This record gives sequence, structure tokens and C-alpha cells, in this order.
Amino acid sequence: MASPPPPRVCVTGGGGYVASWLVKLLLSRGYAVHATVRDPSDPKNAHLRRLDGAPESLLLFKADVLDRDALAAAVAGCEGVFHVASPVPADKVLDPESEVLSPAVKGTLNVLQACSANNVQKVVVVSSTAAVHYNPSWPHGRIKDESCWSDKNFCMKNENWYTAAKTIAEETALEYGEKNGLNVVTVCPCIVLGPLLQPLINTTSELLIYIIKGGPRLMKNLPWNIVDVRDVADALLLVYEKVGSSGRYICAPDRISTNDIVKLLKKSYPNYNYVNCENKDYESEVSPVTSEKLKSLGWKPRKMEETLLDSVEYFEKAGFLQDVEGCPCRLPHLFHFASD
Ligand SMILES: NC(=O)c1ccc[n+]([C@@H]2O[C@H](COP(=O)([O-])OP(=O)(O)OC[C@H]3O[C@@H](n4cnc5c(N)ncnc54)[C@H](OP(=O)(O)O)[C@@H]3O)[C@@H](O)[C@H]2O)c1
Repeated sequence: MASPPPPRVCVTGGGGYVASWLVKLLLSRGYAVHATVRDPSDPKNAHLRRLDGAPESLLLFKADVLDRDALAAAVAGCEGVFHVASPVPADKVLDPESEVLSPAVKGTLNVLQACSANNVQKVVVVSSTAAVHYNPSWPHGRIKDESCWSDKNFCMKNENWYTAAKTIAEETALEYGEKNGLNVVTVCPCIVLGPLLQPLINTTSELLIYIIKGGPRLMKNLPWNIVDVRDVADALLLVYEKVGSSGRYICAPDRISTNDIVKLLKKSYPNYNYVNCENKDYESEVSPVTSEKLKSLGWKPRKMEETLLDSVEYFEKAGFLQDVEGCPCRLPHLFHFASD
């Protein structure tokens, strides 16, 4: 008897940092994968074709999330969709609507509508703890769980466009699912670090490179929630495969201050400059978040030390820590709040 065809799923923004690890994981678990990229011929997406299992089980589709027809073609025949694509801008946002809000919010709606039209059974949307943290009404010191939402008006007033976009996009996704009978689950990762599969440096890796190389700006000793990119991929697949998963899942296992990141890395890599960091402790000023809901599904993230050390090992191998003339080390604009 012929064996049944493998389950078929789509990953949007397949060439990005998080999505590439998810595509790799899905292929390793026997899924047939449709990955959307904006330009399949761009060398920055070539790593996808080299993944184990890619020749037999990976199809690339050209799709911008603002192109509904292209999305419909990509999700056709898929039982599940992972919507990962969304801009994570490293530079200052000059036109919030076109650069961030529209691709995040309209893009999410377009993906969901394509899913409804193509009988997709379950959609996992990648949100962010950016959609959790920025809530000035949350009682000080109370642990933030999935009931805590960032205040989109507060974010927009502060021109925190990424945060506003992720919050509105996640709200839109869950509301759409409820109103239209589509099974939508969201996952909110914190700062994602760990080795890269794609050739270009993504925005959060640039933050760690800045901390290691010691950029010119003094940094605040803020507590950072960090999760490993491989554990994010695991979390996305876990909530997809768990039949009863629902609502949002915070994916933020550990936190560590800037000074403690520097201390930890200096033990294994003493020869980098590292950032100068103020001594003030912000630990008690920033309410912690909990990932208990995700852990109760069976999610087991690795230790943060492994993530940080694997990141540096990878950066060294890829040459990301070398000085390049004319390219000063820069702190992505998204993280300027963390400097003086
Ligand atoms: N990295 C983190 O720390 C972190 C934390 C929490 C949540 N997230 C979320 O995780 C997801 C992936 O982020 P990442 O860190 O992997 O960043 P990334 O490597 O920059 O990936 C972003 C992806 O989105 C795609 N994209 C952007 N605008 C698009 C558009 N209009 N149409 C189609 N694709 C578009 C990009 O495609 P191109 O290559 O064509 O630009 C890229 O593949 C995002 O939803 C982000 O908000 C990331």
C-alpha cells in the first residue's frame, strides 16, 4: 500500500532568520514545505535550497505579503501555515505605514484570508513580546502573562512603530480567527539569538554583535529576555502540532542584564572590546514575563549560556566580528532605547 503524502505546510518569509530554522525543522520532521520569499533568485535565499530534504520537499514561492494572489498560490494545498514574514527594521523608520504597519497588519490579514479561501486548518502567527511589554497600566512588578497586551496608542505616541505594528497585527490575527472560524494561534518570542542559517545579519544578531564589539554608545544595564532561534522553531511547531493549543503563547524563557551578558561572554571570549555599560540596575523596574503556558505544552528551551556562546562561535566563523573599513559597528535603531 502506498504511504500517505507528507503533511504540507507553508512558511511565509522563509528566507529570514527565524523562518529558515523553522523550514529546516519542518523538513527534518518529514513535512513538505512551501516557503514564500520575495525574490527566489536572490542569493540571500540560496541557503534554503541547501537544507537537508530541500530538493525533494521544499518549494519556493515568490510572494510579498501585500500580494494576495501570490499568497493564495503559496498556501494552496497546505493544511497549515506559519506566518513569520514581517519587517524587523534595523534603521530608523521614516514612513511607518509603508515600512512597518502595512506589511505587518495588512500582510497578516492577507495571509489569513488566503488561508480561509484555501481551507487551511491551522495558522501559527509569529508575534513578539513587543506586543506584550509596552503596557503602562500593567501593575508594577506583576508578572506579565498572555493577558498583558502592549498599548498600541502608547506605542504610536512614542513612535515605536515596530511594537505598534506587532501589537495590532497580533490582535487582528486572533480577532480574524474568532470571527471567521479559522484556527489561529500566536507565539510571542522575545529577543531571538543563536546561530544563523541565512547569509545576511538580521537585526537582533546585530544587537549582540554591537554588545560584543563595543560600539561607541554607552548602554543601559537593562534586563533582556533572550530565546534561542532553534527553540523558537521548536515552539512554533509544538503549538502547531498540539491539537488543543489556543490563543497566545509567550516564548521568553530567560532574562539577563547587559552587564551579565558581557561577563558571561568575557569568560570564553576575553579579547573583544565589549560595550561600556552603566552600573544602574533596572531589574526591579521591568516586570518579568512568564512562558509557563508554552512550557505546559511541553516546550523545553535550552540554557541561555548555550545560545550566547553558540551565537559568538557562529559570528566568528562567519566573520561577523571582524572590523570592516567604512562600516562602523552600529546599534540597530530598534534598540536605541537601550543606550544613553
Ligand atoms: N528576531 C527577533 O528577536 C524576533 C523577536 C520576536 C519576534 N520576531 C518576529 O519573527 C519574525 C521573523 O523575524 P526575524 O528576526 O527572522 O527577521 P528577518 O530575518 O528580518 O525576517 C523577516 C522576514 O520578513 C520578510 N518580509 C518583510 N517584509 C515583507 C513583505 N512585505 N513581504 C514578504 N516578506 C516580507 C523578510 O523578507 P525579505 O528577506 O525579502 O526582506 C524576511 O524574510 C517577524 O515576524 C518578527 O517580528 C523576531
